[in-house]
Amino acid sequence: MQPNPSLRSAVATEDVQIAAAAHVLVRARRVVVLTGAGMSAESGIPTFRDAGGIWSMFDPDEVATPRAFERDAGKVWRWYAERRRSMAGARPNAGHVALAALEARFAARGGSVTVVTQNIDGLHRAAGSRNVVAVHGDIHRTRCFDCRADGGEAGAHDASTVAPPRCPACGGRLRPDVVWFGEALPMAAVGRALRAIRACDVLVSVGTSGEVEPVASFPLLALEHRAVLIEINPAPTPLSAHAEHVVRAGAATALPALVEACA
Ligand code: OAD
Repeated sequence: MQPNPSLRSAVATEDVQIAAAAHVLVRARRVVVLTGAGMSAESGIPTFRDAGGIWSMFDPDEVATPRAFERDAGKVWRWYAERRRSMAGARPNAGHVALAALEARFAARGGSVTVVTQNIDGLHRAAGSRNVVAVHGDIHRTRCFDCRADGGEAGAHDASTVAPPRCPACGGRLRPDVVWFGEALPMAAVGRALRAIRACDVLVSVGTSGEVEPVASFPLLALEHRAVLIEINPAPTPLSAHAEHVVRAGAATALPALVEACA
């Protein structure tokens, strides 16, 4: 069988892009890796805006806003309980593992890798990354909708399938500790993310459509501070035009190849 020439050139382009990106990365001291839902796609967790994604099946206004919780707290609680159940078997993929290895390697030579993630699945930490800033919260934790007190592990309450459990501090309703549409991001996390972004030499954007603010503007802030932008995403995004190196491949393939090429 004849090799498919267009496939061959796509693979060659990807290898060339990975080599070029590695050339930049290996010279960096401070790196930020900004991740979105595509990072966990190969762990079996669906993205939001791809075909068949979460927002093609559910209206965010019905399940991911404070208004939705006020309207029907039980429905929102159950929706997140179901998402937790569907994620329960998800494991870090080779991309998560590669990022943890990159962080250890940079730390050993006095540099840093900070993962700024929009994902609420906890897979970066599960893979061994330590320097993780989860700017959209954590689906495995709860807090009080009324007094904002920490409500502990969500799994501890998963028997509550009808209504949200009660806050141990004020008796209010517990909610998942995630950011909903129309809400501010947690200030401490944003502060950490912005400090890392202003100081980084390279920002690697992985698996995010770049459509949700304020995170969509984080790479532009890095550019203003003269960082080099690398994008890893099988599909074009609004960021692509700003990136010096674009790798059109999935995270679980591209990140191990990139980290290996930096060795
Ligand atoms: P999106 O669903 O908007 O975008 C996912 C991106 O991942 C797309 O650009 C895909 O091309 C890319 N992608 C798909 N498979 C991939 C793979 N295997 N490897 C790498 N990339 C892949 O998800 P986010 O950008 O994360 O917020 O969305 C941002 C926020 O919107 C989420 O945090 C969530 C959502 O509403 C809240 O719920 C607050």
